[in-house]
Amino acid sequence: MRKDLMSFTIAHLSALEILDSRSRPTLQVALELKGGVAAIAGVPSGASTGTREAVELRDGDQARYSGQGVLGAVNNVKGEIAEHLIGRDFTSLAEVDAAMKELDGTENKARLGANAIVGVSMALARALAAAEGKPLYAWLPGFGQSPRLPVPCFNVLNGGAHAPNPLDFQEFMVCPLGAPSMAEAVRAGAEVYAALKKRLAADGHSTGLGDEGGFAPNLAEPEEVLTMIVAAITDAGYTPGTDGVAIALDPAASEFRQSDGTYRVNGQSLSSDDMIERYAAMVEAYPIWSIEDGLGEDDHDGWQRLTARLGERLQLMGDDNFCTNPAIISAAIADGIANSSLIKLNQIGTVTETLEAMAICHRAGYTQMVSHRSGETPDTFIADLAVASGCGQLKTGAPARGERVAKYNRLMEIAASSPDLPFGRS
Ligand code: PGA
Ligand code: ZN
Repeated sequence: MRKDLMSFTIAHLSALEILDSRSRPTLQVALELKGGVAAIAGVPSGASTGTREAVELRDGDQARYSGQGVLGAVNNVKGEIAEHLIGRDFTSLAEVDAAMKELDGTENKARLGANAIVGVSMALARALAAAEGKPLYAWLPGFGQSPRLPVPCFNVLNGGAHAPNPLDFQEFMVCPLGAPSMAEAVRAGAEVYAALKKRLAADGHSTGLGDEGGFAPNLAEPEEVLTMIVAAITDAGYTPGTDGVAIALDPAASEFRQSDGTYRVNGQSLSSDDMIERYAAMVEAYPIWSIEDGLGEDDHDGWQRLTARLGERLQLMGDDNFCTNPAIISAAIADGIANSSLIKLNQIGTVTETLEAMAICHRAGYTQMVSHRSGETPDTFIADLAVASGCGQLKTGAPARGERVAKYNRLMEIAASSPDLPFGRS
């Protein structure tokens, strides 16, 4: 194996339209380095997207997949991007990512598509790691945080844009913060999930699943769900709270914010301050340690008040309002918004910019949680990214459905092969 790869050349680059976990088209990118090392990457896709995310290029041809096809993005990989990259000497992933950004020429990767660019970036990272004989998590560059195994945040109950139930809050996650190891954390997630299924069934609720593998019962009141999850944690033999299994929320509030600026929760109309007080009461009553997108992406002042009110005792995470975008996150940090950022590769469109966003958070004392999207493939890149970055947190859905479980299984595989890696929040 070559230990220090001074320069490299991309020999082949191609892409294919495949299906994601929601039966919508996405890209699989295949890349080969000169010398024969090859890698593929599957591109994820969100449903509750931030308005300032990098652009996911869709064909818009209503005759195919209701306009959701990605043949244009596929052709951009096989055509313009391949022509621009193949045969050139590069010395780093960052250089290639910058070359694609420049070739695209827009602020938000709208011309070639962030879905096209991120697929190439991910496949190249994988190929470069393989060329150096390293697993991806050991190859991805860090930025001051040492590698560690992340606490898995299991989305056990789905609502919002991810389920056809009346629940406005999108995600209810169980996080085994007190688990002693990766394997025990996964076990706790699976056991609580099983206990929750039993409880739901016993109460006559459906145990059908939402887009991220969590249950999607006909419940509308967030507190009713929280009560049920706490009971399931206890049923499974764990202690509810940060010493055992705690709860994280992603209400994805942009999705239920109305045009008049109010929030509609279970038929009630709430102001930003009403929402903040509602969260304050929830935090008192339930073992909640993290809230993501508690307010809408445009509710700048509300976010500042939310951070001032609860930022000392809670992880407050930006997603729709941050979009893994280094410039947007820097501005939000200066404005005192949130204390943590969700991290999604396809929101910004390159591995390099994703790591840059994490580094900015790290320097400002903001925590980070690496994340899947609601539309996924079996690609496990984010598991390695979470470990390499040392952020200590990953959310990738329920401990159910192959595309979600693949990431948790990858984490257990990494833990088994690197027993010295620390586990847990940094
Ligand atoms: P999305 O949901 O992938 O549909 O955007 C995930 C999230 O909001 O965190
Ligand atoms: Zn979110």
